[in-house]
Amino acid sequence: MPKRLQRYETDEIAVTFDPNRCIHAAACVRGLPLVFDPKERRWVRLEHATADDVAATVARCPTGALRAYRPDGAPASVVEATEPPVTVRARRDGPLYVRGPLRIQTEAGELLVEDERVALCRCGGTGNAPFCDGSHTARGFTG
Ligand code: FES
Repeated sequence: MPKRLQRYETDEIAVTFDPNRCIHAAACVRGLPLVFDPKERRWVRLEHATADDVAATVARCPTGALRAYRPDGAPASVVEATEPPVTVRARRDGPLYVRGPLRIQTEAGELLVEDERVALCRCGGTGNAPFCDGSHTARGFTG
């Protein structure tokens, strides 16, 4: 059963977290440890940083598990306001990090996700295909 989407917000920014997409890359924790603290029950505390800093850190989440929104609908960060070419980067012993405006469809053409950041499984062991779910570590995947 998929885990539910979490939402956190202030007057200046809202952040959603999809635990089904998180593989604990920890870019958020390294970027703003006072805001993103997995040891706390309420692990996202937006009041500890500016909305711009939160948006910049969220934009570094390689899987797209974290997303940021401005109340006025404007792009949350400069990074996500631009449309760079799609880039694919293989993480050592892990997934493919894909960045850029992208659309993933099923074989039948049904839209699965439209996003700017995803981590795609390349070990074949995910339980959340086509996304990486972190199973590559337990499988001892190398490559
Ligand atoms: S690469 Fe992470 S589960 Fe396959």
